[in-house]
Amino acid sequence: MDKIFNGDCIKIMKQFEPDTVSACITDPPYNYEFIGKNWDTEEVERRISRSKKSNTLVKNIPYGSGLAGGVRNKRWYDKNRSNILDYEEWCLKWSEELYRILKPGSPVAVFNSTRTLAHVQVALEKAGFYARDILVYRRSSGIPKGYNAASQLKRKGYQEHYRWQGWHSCFRNEWEGIVLVQKPLEQNYSQTLMKYGVGVFNTTLKNGGFQSNILENIQRDKKEEFNVHCTVKPLSLMEKLVSILVPEGTQNVVIDPFAGSGTTLLAAKHLGRGYLGIEIEKKYVEIIRERLNYSLF
Ligand SMILES: C[S@@+](CC[C@H](N)C(=O)[O-])C[C@H]1O[C@@H](n2cnc3c(N)ncnc32)[C@H](O)[C@@H]1O
Repeated sequence: MDKIFNGDCIKIMKQFEPDTVSACITDPPYNYEFIGKNWDTEEVERRISRSKKSNTLVKNIPYGSGLAGGVRNKRWYDKNRSNILDYEEWCLKWSEELYRILKPGSPVAVFNSTRTLAHVQVALEKAGFYARDILVYRRSSGIPKGYNAASQLKRKGYQEHYRWQGWHSCFRNEWEGIVLVQKPLEQNYSQTLMKYGVGVFNTTLKNGGFQSNILENIQRDKKEEFNVHCTVKPLSLMEKLVSILVPEGTQNVVIDPFAGSGTTLLAAKHLGRGYLGIEIEKKYVEIIRERLNYSLF
């Protein structure tokens, strides 16, 4: 069953049989401005270099964070609003395909930014999924970005700039959200477990404790030279998610429809689960192949 597909996940998932996949763990693009456009390294580089030269854009913004500056007029807010609603609509399209192919009781874990997470959850629920939780991936770092009131007011010659010392337009970003939803059970947990082999989470910790919904103390990976993908998730984080959400055995297949460089798939392989990956950019598919050391075609 282990397979990687190159193409748009909305189209590719249509080819799969209904009620066959046991879980979805995925990290879609957070940037709603880029739906339907190339989401590749060159575009990311172009944006970063543009923001370096600009006085109005916040420096070093993560791709798709939408924290860029500019005049906050009605046009700006209207554009922002229509972008996020387009993003929600696009999330609904892939959520509907995902819903069809997952077994009843299957969990779906979707990463997103703290600003856009709610829209992803609404789209998943519109597609039929049932809300279970929001997991927190607590990162070790997080550089404050955004508008620094005291220094900006000082630059503008405002006499009382010192009053705004320590005030910013945002907080230090120390976590990413993971929406956790579930395809409805068939009757109840026991019936679903006996028929489909999914429906509950593995909560046992190595120290005997009970798994919490905050994932922290995640080890960083050493950079693999050939992996030029710009948003690679830590392998141990994806292994953690696979181990708590996907029951053991290669018959239990986890899908990542936005596979990127394939970290979810690699985690599934390490832990002896089946996997299906879809990635729209061919060059990332080649990276996945190299990471999995696996002949695709
Ligand atoms: C945030 S990245 C995933 C990174 C991944 N978690 C990793 O560790 O490498 C999202 C990926 O989704 C891909 N993508 C965007 N739209 C897609 C679509 N419609 N179908 C399949 N893949 C898509 C992008 O090319 C990108 O590689």
